[in-house]
Amino acid sequence: MRYGVIGDIHSNYEALTAVLKELRAEQVDKILCTGDIIGYAAEPIPCIEIIRDLDCTIVAGNHDYAAVGKFPSGYFHAAARDAIVWTAQQLTSEYTEFLKKLPLVEEFNDITLVHASLNHPEFFDYITTGVEARLSLDILKTKICFYGHSHVPLAIFLAGENVHVDRGSVFDLSNADKALINVGSVGQPRDWDIRASYAIYDEKNKSVQIKRVKYNIQDTVGKIYKAGLPEANALRLMS
Ligand SMILES: [Fe+2]
Repeated sequence: MRYGVIGDIHSNYEALTAVLKELRAEQVDKILCTGDIIGYAAEPIPCIEIIRDLDCTIVAGNHDYAAVGKFPSGYFHAAARDAIVWTAQQLTSEYTEFLKKLPLVEEFNDITLVHASLNHPEFFDYITTGVEARLSLDILKTKICFYGHSHVPLAIFLAGENVHVDRGSVFDLSNADKALINVGSVGQPRDWDIRASYAIYDEKNKSVQIKRVKYNIQDTVGKIYKAGLPEANALRLMS
């Protein structure tokens, strides 16, 4: 099986459609999503509809839960919080129910999906270092776990008692007992590469590759301004 893994879309329609076009060309067998469909940008409904119609395996992000009252908005900085309030106003009950029903963790075959950390996934703690990864690696029951939240691609491997962090873009899983792979962000990358980020997991070759795609950022930015969302949410896409 070849999987396309996406996450942290954040209502960015242009980035999502650009990534899905690439995934169709890659002819992946299944799409997985690590959550945060909404938040920050201006097209929550089209993004939810696209993800829902993909019939992918998906978990909830903190923005998904916050917009439907399942996570406190006090967690967020002002620009994120304002977008959550705006997004909640756009959601009809059909979309609210979809977001409310998203699980925090999915586990199947040898794959786990979670938005942030596996220990207390409902707290949405960041994993950006080997130390932060340790508790999640200890309780991970499958070989590989895909996650997001920080919007920065990263792989953290456990081999015996050793934890190894890899900030590259091609990861070989064959020597690891377990691996946590952050697939980066489709809709709001934060690693100084403004292109949309996603991953291809080749189960047979035991490899994961982080891929980047250009998309029409100006269109996304224009829609953020037009909706009256915080300017910071537009500027963040361009730096
Ligand atoms: Fe996010």
